[in-house]
Amino acid sequence: MSKIAIKEDIFWVGALDPDRDVFDGLLPLPQGTTYNSYLVVGSEKTALFDTVEPEKIDDLWANLEGVEKIDYIISHHAEQDHSGSIPAVLERYPEATLLCLQKNKELLLDLMTIPEDRIQVIEDGGEVSLGNKTVRFMHFPWVHWPETAVTYIPEDKVLFSCDFLGSHHSFTEIFAGDNPAVYKGAKEYYVQIMMLYSKMTAKHLDRLAELDIEYICPSHGSVYDKPKIILDLYEKWMRGEPDNLALIAYVSTHGSTKIMAEQLKISLEERGVHVVLQDLIGLPLNELAGVLTDAATIVLGSSVIMAALHPLAFNTAFLVDRLKPKAKYLAVIGSYGWSPGPLKKAAELFPTYKAEVVGAVIAKGHPKDEALHELDELAETIAAKHKEAGLL
Ligand code: FEO
Repeated sequence: MSKIAIKEDIFWVGALDPDRDVFDGLLPLPQGTTYNSYLVVGSEKTALFDTVEPEKIDDLWANLEGVEKIDYIISHHAEQDHSGSIPAVLERYPEATLLCLQKNKELLLDLMTIPEDRIQVIEDGGEVSLGNKTVRFMHFPWVHWPETAVTYIPEDKVLFSCDFLGSHHSFTEIFAGDNPAVYKGAKEYYVQIMMLYSKMTAKHLDRLAELDIEYICPSHGSVYDKPKIILDLYEKWMRGEPDNLALIAYVSTHGSTKIMAEQLKISLEERGVHVVLQDLIGLPLNELAGVLTDAATIVLGSSVIMAALHPLAFNTAFLVDRLKPKAKYLAVIGSYGWSPGPLKKAAELFPTYKAEVVGAVIAKGHPKDEALHELDELAETIAAKHKEAGLL
């Protein structure tokens, strides 16, 4: 995709990567991604905001065709999908100076070969003039690395938010508008990349609230031309209460745990609790992520296999423990053949997660009346907890 004007003298010059199907070797990218680089032409200086994944550098060169001089390369973040082409850009534009925060400089020097004398460190809150445009640097640590910065051009009311507020897709329409697919992707991206740090980073929203923002230009995905939509969503995801929703994520080898999960769903819905039932077999992580941030209760369901919980349940428990969704309650259900121990110990799979464990229902083989009754009791407990929390 070629260069696109966002505002006068502010251009998207990045690269689409529709064929990339996974990030970090873990996160599915059903719609690919983008590496957003922006060119800002001031009356005196020209600046390039971030670069692209090195394998996409030809796209960047094509979008910079005719740009004879770059005075500044602004690096928000040292991760290579944005910084990896900095050495090549510095080489092609020998008069360019790399501007970044001190922490970013240290990481960049660790991660790639950059002549240190080409780097100028800017303080948090520091400003650099491009003539008729000013670039203000703001340190936004832990979105999602410790050095990450965002920048703001007050004259144009444009925020460059780096990974913060981004999304993975490669739509050729650059502006988000009201497109629900953009915000669905942004939510999955938030859960996978940002949610773990949300307690530390929600305060960044207060800093953004002080700015008059017309466009948000993240480093992945769409440019937000209606910035209130994504900012309101982040407010809800980061600081809002969870919904009156139980996520039942289960894996069943011979159908018994599935029966239990379905019975619990019916019992919860009878009591007014909304339910998302997710069979973990074949479930892409991004689909699970889309629900994780909303649920007030997470129920993990598993069979016992190899004298342990099913690996898909293990993996889900690990992700919940690491991603730390804001669910308040946790429960375990499952069926076993001859070894109930793994299910009895399942809550130990969440060593750092703070949600209250509200119950476990364990059945030997096909769930009988006793187990079904216990599932009703668990549903009653969950509904009571949701009421107590003011969610139901
Ligand atoms: Fe898109 Fe943290 O790099």
